[in-house]
Amino acid sequence: MSRELKIAPSILAADFAILGKQIKKAEEGGAKYLHLDVMDGRFVPNFTFGAPVFKSLRKVSGMFFDCHLMVERPLDFIAPCKDAGVDSITVHYEALGEKTGEVLQFIKSEGLSAGLSISPDTEADAIAPFIKDADMILIMSVYPGFGGQKFIEGSLDKIARVREMTKEFDTDIEVDGGIGVKNIKKVVDAGANVIVAGSAVFGAEDIKKAVEDLRAAAGEKI
Ligand code: DX5
Ligand code: ZN
Repeated sequence: MSRELKIAPSILAADFAILGKQIKKAEEGGAKYLHLDVMDGRFVPNFTFGAPVFKSLRKVSGMFFDCHLMVERPLDFIAPCKDAGVDSITVHYEALGEKTGEVLQFIKSEGLSAGLSISPDTEADAIAPFIKDADMILIMSVYPGFGGQKFIEGSLDKIARVREMTKEFDTDIEVDGGIGVKNIKKVVDAGANVIVAGSAVFGAEDIKKAVEDLRAAAGEKI
């Protein structure tokens, strides 16, 4: 089965002084998702942005807002992000443990798409009980916290394993960290269909072209 490819530029690498303009360019290049990395300085050693920024962006963009919560207390962030207009919320298994299933169900009961993420040191099989509750599985291919890190090659086997585990469900597989034109094809070939790219998009001179180049490198006809 082949699911539709979606490029999800991560605004972590954008120029926040001209954020609205930059995301328009990414959208013109064919990005369907906008990846929003929320960090609380506790779950990860970095701090970013949250609902007030998403509310402003919502007014200028029709993209699917894909919110990635790298926080210790994900439940506190669901209502504000929903009110700001995000379309999907992804939580980390490492932050929730046994509560993962109920939090995913809560996100869905709020009318949002629910994602479940695992960090590089977590085995794919740890989330087996929660696959049925997730619309998307997000495999971190770097340690969460910062953009611009190197892709961890072992993620490819994990993507393939998650693809196998999700085959009876309609689950999207997203991969996040260290992806660019040189390795996007192998990530897609391993089974992923939602591809996060921060520095490869917003670090480029021409943002629209950077998204088009990623789509082409992934094998999409442009
Ligand atoms: C890392 C974030 C990523 C990051 C990706 O914790 O979750 O979304 O912005 O950035 P690049 O594509 O530069 O690795
Ligand atoms: Zn992310």
